Amino acid sequence: MQVILRQLGDCNIRRAGPSDLISVMEINLKTLPEHYSDYFYESLLAELPEAFIIAEIGGKHVGYIMCKTEFGFSNFKKLGFVKKGHVVSIAVVQEHRRKGIGNALVEESVNGVKLKKCDEFYLEVRCSNTDAVRLYEKMGFAIRQQLNAYYRDGEDAYLMAIELVQTNK
Ligand code: ACO
Ligand code: ZN
Repeated sequence: MQVILRQLGDCNIRRAGPSDLISVMEINLKTLPEHYSDYFYESLLAELPEAFIIAEIGGKHVGYIMCKTEFGFSNFKKLGFVKKGHVVSIAVVQEHRRKGIGNALVEESVNGVKLKKCDEFYLEVRCSNTDAVRLYEKMGFAIRQQLNAYYRDGEDAYLMAIELVQTNK
């Protein structure tokens, strides 16, 4: 079943299903230098479908976000051990950027990891990726650490994180 989460003009934001994974991999190949095995995409979808979200315009995939959950040390509290959502990857195809799609994907994934009772949400992003850093800052993520030579090509990453407040519905 396809759960439409919201519409942005002609763009549908919805949860991904198994038949979306090939298109997600294609967008990933076109837009980012970090790629993953088929199995990895399948396992993220199986583990956290609530935060594996796609954007679609007229039946064509234009963006995705995929995440996982982890237990680990808090990015905010000293010595705190928390449940964390982790954005593994997000991308919007070039022709449809700056229309709010990235923003909607992050917002919906925040809702997804809140459903799974995560206390925090975090990600790594290339220090040079100012578009993405701006998007995350706008959504309330803050740079918490700089990870030295995090990427295979030697570039540093910012670890950016946000504390999630559970809203009881
Ligand atoms: N210049 C300045 N600010 C920007 C830009 C830009 N090119 N792109 C996004 N922003 C900021 C702006 O504040 C923007 O709000 P505004 O348009 O109201 O000013 C805000 O982010 C939200 O922009 P959206 O339109 O929602 O974002 P978009 O749909 O363009 O997607 C994304 C942003 C996903 C970063 C896109 O540029 C992309 O796919 N880039 C290539 C892949 C990538 O770098 N992914 C992130 C890697 S890190 C990771 O995956 C964890
Ligand atoms: Zn990561």
